[in-house]
Amino acid sequence: MQENFSLKPYNTFGVDVNAKYFIEVQTLEELRDAINYSKNHDLPVLFLGGGSNILLTKDFDGLAIKLSLKGIDEKDLNDNEILVTAKAGENWHEFVMYSLEKNYGGLENLSLIPGNVGTSPMQNIGAYGTEIKDIFVSCTVLDLENLALKTFNLEECRFGYRDSIFKQEGKGRYVILEVTFHLTKKDHHIKTEYGAIKTELENLGITDPTIQDVSKAVINIRQSKLPDPKETGNAGSFFKNPTIPLAQFEDLKQKFENIPGYPNGDVVKVPAGWLIEQCGWKGKQIGNTASHKLQALVIVNATGNATGKEIFDFSTEIINSVIEKFGIELEREVNII
Ligand code: EPU
Repeated sequence: MQENFSLKPYNTFGVDVNAKYFIEVQTLEELRDAINYSKNHDLPVLFLGGGSNILLTKDFDGLAIKLSLKGIDEKDLNDNEILVTAKAGENWHEFVMYSLEKNYGGLENLSLIPGNVGTSPMQNIGAYGTEIKDIFVSCTVLDLENLALKTFNLEECRFGYRDSIFKQEGKGRYVILEVTFHLTKKDHHIKTEYGAIKTELENLGITDPTIQDVSKAVINIRQSKLPDPKETGNAGSFFKNPTIPLAQFEDLKQKFENIPGYPNGDVVKVPAGWLIEQCGWKGKQIGNTASHKLQALVIVNATGNATGKEIFDFSTEIINSVIEKFGIELEREVNII
């Protein structure tokens, strides 16, 4: 266990705050020991996965536990279906690449998402027409109330858009230890309908794409507009895309005829990136913080020296200007600590 430990390498924003204590755990036993230590010493606990969806706004006066449980297991169901279980500390993109090397289908549209397997169910990670709920079977968690193991199936996770039970009633109660996915071995379901995938495949000269081709296209698209956290600190989309009532959307359409929207029954999902860009934020920098020049929804640590508070205040200014111009209140997607 380390004392007064900088968490800068453990959050993709690259914010430099200290944890009073820090420990990295590789097994369930080590995790239980660390939690018991925190209970015995009355220390609050902060669990760190890939650190790609948190904004640390101040020093943490407790025990930060980095979850590094590793391992992948497979269970054949038949000649076309397989269950693959990955431990929480596996890097998400490396896990996707592993599945593609073995020609297992289902994860390809989720290529290059930062973070670890263990946090993927928290916010039901999604991109390019796939969410993990589409291939999720179950996850095993440690219940912090009694340190017992528990399994959540698909239904029990109550997945929604960037949402799950782990962000609602279960918030702070469970540590996800491993996740099981249902993948295909040969009859893959290729999804190219979303966004620029088709165009990108055309650019690559591919007419009959494999799952590996779809992954390549997604990687190219992401790399063309999302900043690499290794170069510029960020946590992907900072806000959720808001959902507004159809009537409100129709009113806005009168005033802003180009407003994009994806209707779903009597509500419409509006791209937050568009709203933020319209308010003049795209590429704008204040001090050390900026809205990314190619995707306004991503806030970046532009100089590498931004504090969590600066980034938080920057996001508040964005929220206020979007309310003022459109009457829509953006919700932060990133966890604020
Ligand atoms: N747009 C703008 N200006 C911008 C950014 C976007 O006008 O600066 C418009 C685009 O023109 C497009 C629309 O907004 O019409 C949607 O943009 P994009 O396809 O880039 O997707 P997004 O809705 O901004 C969501 C996810 C991303 C995911 C992509 C692709 C959320 C909060 N974000 O972004 O997820 O990669 O779709 O599926 O749902 C993440 O969660 O960290 C993340 C990157």
